[in-house]
Amino acid sequence: MSEQLLSIAERVIARANRERPADMVLREELRGQKGMTRDDSRFVSETVFAYYRWLGWLNRKEPMEQQLRNARKLKRSFQNDPQSIPEAELSQAVPAWAKEHVKVSPAWLKSLQEEPKLWLRARPGQGKQLAEKLGECWIAGDGPLADVLRYEGTEDLFRTPEFHAGEFELQDISSQMVGLACAPSPGHTWWDACAGEGGKTLHICDLMQNKGLVWASDRADWRLKKLKLRTARAKLFNYRSALWDGGAKLPTKTRFDGILVDAPCSGLGTWQRNPHARWTMTPEDIRELSEVQKRLVSNTVPVLKPGGRLIYSVCTLTHAETTEVAEAITKQFPDLKIHPLMNPMAAGTTIDQLWFWPQEVGGNGMFVCAWEKSK
Ligand SMILES: C[S@@+](CC[C@H](N)C(=O)[O-])C[C@H]1O[C@@H](n2cnc3c(N)ncnc32)[C@H](O)[C@@H]1O
Repeated sequence: MSEQLLSIAERVIARANRERPADMVLREELRGQKGMTRDDSRFVSETVFAYYRWLGWLNRKEPMEQQLRNARKLKRSFQNDPQSIPEAELSQAVPAWAKEHVKVSPAWLKSLQEEPKLWLRARPGQGKQLAEKLGECWIAGDGPLADVLRYEGTEDLFRTPEFHAGEFELQDISSQMVGLACAPSPGHTWWDACAGEGGKTLHICDLMQNKGLVWASDRADWRLKKLKLRTARAKLFNYRSALWDGGAKLPTKTRFDGILVDAPCSGLGTWQRNPHARWTMTPEDIRELSEVQKRLVSNTVPVLKPGGRLIYSVCTLTHAETTEVAEAITKQFPDLKIHPLMNPMAAGTTIDQLWFWPQEVGGNGMFVCAWEKSK
């Protein structure tokens, strides 16, 4: 049987490319297979992800089936003993160009080879109850972190009654830190400018206790449709969605107390969860995305109220998409002043820029910074 499953993994890898990421092709292939058990699907997924995670160690001249077996072996050895990979070899985990764009450390590289953790966001104040209901959950901390849970069980959470009742969302811990950094007040008006499928819109609506209004825009209509399904499940109604292509023509004349630009980015922060992206991203993409990010952020500034806050976040850690964008915006808009953010990693302190590294938070890499508009 395992030959048959390996050949499905092989087909996924043969079909995946820049436009059709491996996780998307994998979902399609698994949907098309009749009579596969959950264990079979897991075997195929693990093999595909192990292949991209360990690609830098594989001999590309070997038959694909052998490469897949070797990738699985490397994954197992590393899981049993992380020292099984010498530090000098760790740079094989990422393309050679990475060191020109991001701070490459042995700790980061090692974290990329680990299996990603599964994070849940409980509804405000419900973390403890949810952990008790689901079992096998670890609560990340006190205060706002009390609703951030790591799930260590093996249940398919999408099938649980709690999921269908909207009692939690699957959301990475670092993404949850972005919602918390927004710290929206109930009754305020917010704009989630790159809302996508609404991961952060839902969080902002929730933190506003369903009071006030959140505009959710994106250039992809299909993403906004998914957002609508998610808000319905969560019974959140204080939002409105609209298409926006990132240009100077805005979807509304509303003035906002807060704006979140969770911008499209190179996604280096997700390279643990999404190892295929390590091999499809290019330095040219990073350059282009940095320009897109500056344009998106600067186009939102005119509708920020005096005293309002603008939050910029990206799930990447490259210089061009983090500090470079932050500096460009500060320079372009003299009426925007850096707004220090609560540092969830050091309770009671604030910081000008939040950097979440996978090896420190056990989740995606993420950069967040904020400005306040002069009154
Ligand atoms: C990082 S994702 C957003 C994720 C989302 N905020 C969440 O938490 O689930 C970036 C989003 O920006 C959108 N996007 C990309 N280019 C854009 C543009 N030029 N204008 C507006 N949205 C854009 C993408 O469709 C994508 O949904």
